[in-house]
Formats: sequence, C-alpha cells, structure tokens
Amino acid sequence: MSYARIIGTGSYLPPRIVTNRELEATVDTHDEWIVERTGIRQRHVADTETTCDLAEVAARRALEMAGKRPEDVDLIVLGTSTPDLVFPSTACLLQGRLGIAGGPAFDVNAACSGFIYALGVAHNFIKAGTSRCALVVGSEVMTRILDWNDRTTCVLFGDGAGALVLEASDEAGILSTHLHSDGKYEHLLNVSAGISRNHQLLRETGAFLQMKGNEVFKMAVNTLGRIVDETLEANQLTKAEVDWLVPHQANIRIIQATAKKLNMPMERVVVTVGEHGNTSSASIPLALDAAIRDGRIQRGDMLLLEAFGGGFTWGSALVRY
Ligand code: ACO
Repeated sequence: MSYARIIGTGSYLPPRIVTNRELEATVDTHDEWIVERTGIRQRHVADTETTCDLAEVAARRALEMAGKRPEDVDLIVLGTSTPDLVFPSTACLLQGRLGIAGGPAFDVNAACSGFIYALGVAHNFIKAGTSRCALVVGSEVMTRILDWNDRTTCVLFGDGAGALVLEASDEAGILSTHLHSDGKYEHLLNVSAGISRNHQLLRETGAFLQMKGNEVFKMAVNTLGRIVDETLEANQLTKAEVDWLVPHQANIRIIQATAKKLNMPMERVVVTVGEHGNTSSASIPLALDAAIRDGRIQRGDMLLLEAFGGGFTWGSALVRY
C-alpha cells in the first residue's frame, strides 16, 4: 500500500456571478482588457458563504463520488489563505461539520499553491502508512480580501472550493509531488496585515491583496517552466506521456506558456479561468473535478498538476488517475 489514488472529486462555486461588464461600472477597466490580458470573463462571488461552507459542499460531493462515508476519512488537509477564523482551522471546522473526529485535520497556507501543498502533505501521510483515506481540499473566498477600487487586482480573483478523496492503494496513483518556496518575494504579492503584524490595518480594513502583477507574471512563467522539467525528470517521463495539464488558473497567458513548454496543445489543458477567475487554492481541484465529471479525464490518464502563488510558493504533482 505505498501509493495514494484519487477515488473521488467534488467542487462548488457560489451562485453569484460577476461579469467583467459589471466591474466596468465600478473601476476604470474594460471587458476586452481583462479577457485579452488574463482570459477571465467572469468570476463567482460568495456573498455570505464562508470558506468552510464552500469546502463542505465540495467535500461531500467528492465523498459521494468516492463511495465513502465521512467516517472513512482519517485525515483532512485543507489549503486556504482565507480561513473562516484564526482558529480553529477551517479543516477542523469542516471535520466538525462532517460529524467526524479523531484523525488529524489542519490547514495549509501556501497562497495559490495551497492545494498542491495540501495534496503533497496528504500523499506523504498515506505513503508513510499513517493515513488510509484523506480528504484534500482547496477552498477560498479571495473576494473578501480584494480592494474593489484597485483595478490591477480586483478583476483577477474569484471564490470557490474543490476537494478530492485519496485512498491508500497498491496501484500507482500520485506518482510524485514537488513543493517549493522562496520567502524573499513578500513585496511582490501579499496581504499586508495579519494578527501579529499590522493588526491595526485589519481593524481599519486597509489590508487588501496587493500585487506587482507583471513581475509576478514573469516569475510564474519561468518557475512553472522549471517545475515541469523537474517533475518529468523525477519520473523519467517524456513530455508526450503527459495526457492532461491541470494548472493553477491565474492567467490564460501563464497557462499557455506552460502548455507550450510541454509541447501540449490547448485541447489537452484544463482551463476554467474564463469562468472562475483566480480562485487561489481552489482552482486546481475545481478544474480537475470539472474535467473528470465531463469525461475528458479518464482512468489511467497521466495528469500534471502545477501551481505558483504568494510567498512565493510553487509545486506540482504527477498523477496517474
Ligand atoms: N483594466 C484596465 N487596465 C488595467 C487593468 C484593468 N483591470 N489593470 C491594469 N491595467 C493597466 C495598468 O495600469 C497598466 O497601465 P500603464 O501601462 O498605463 O501603467 C497596463 O494596464 C498594463 O499593466 P500590466 O500590469 O503591465 O499588465 P499585464 O499584461 O502584466 O497584466 C496581470 C496584468 C493580469 C496582473 C498579469 O501580470 C498577471 O497575470 N500576473 C500574474 C498573476 C499571478 O500569477 N499571480 C500568482 C498567483 S496569485 C496568489 O498567490 C494569491
């Protein structure tokens, strides 16, 4: 039982959709600019729902597809940078909602790489034999930390959640995961307040997401190009053996650059950025669930998952579905 296999996926998007045209009414922007520069046409916005609310629906859907009951889950790892509370963690809140107890439940914060980090952690728990059935979740309400007057960031993000169930198996599933970070890039992408630093900004509601977008863009393209090589080399795999690229959905141009690096036609890339915007930790499991449920991704397909986010953090996973 040295492998972890994906046995179910689920996702949830809050019902309210905000189009680019709607944003034109509040900030100096245009639908054409947003689509051309980012590929985003709309995003989902959670009005009252919390990160845990979104996560619970996605998790229940993943458990249903997996044919598992909440009691079967012995580990919950949840990627988020927009938790419900400082503590308990959103993973613990989710555990309570699912009516289970005893196994470890914790959050992982790696900004937009949060889901890949959560997957990497759960994969290693299963490989080590400390867990047999893990719920891995990415859930975010990014729109709560946006400055809706800042056109350079407010058009980019959306809310949502995705989840998957990993089970210990003799058959190859997750082949490898690769996690990295470099903490010297705080100045390029951050939310400038927390609990122990700049707490007064939170009180004054001045702590919004801020990003030097074009510098982050260059770093993202270069770093993701390298992690594709690292992942293929670690598994002695050729580019042609990857069936599907399931990337973090920040920007269509970043996704296209990574696909090009893999010599992969865009028909083999799962793209949801147009409809979801950047949902941070939630974007990969949302995309994965969409492509599994509509039948594009089939059992036995080789998947490359990758993400880049604030920190900076980046990571990838190679998966035999
Ligand atoms: N509408 C109209 N004009 C705009 C908008 C807007 N919404 N936003 C910026 N502009 C303007 C700028 O002010 C600038 O004008 P200027 O030339 O007069 O100064 C011009 O458009 C070009 O701006 P750039 O920032 O150079 O545009 P770029 O092509 O780089 O696109 C973007 C910006 C979309 C942010 C891109 O750089 C990007 O996607 N970056 C990477 C994002 C990412 O991957 N983040 C990591 C994950 S996020 C996380 O971890 C939380």
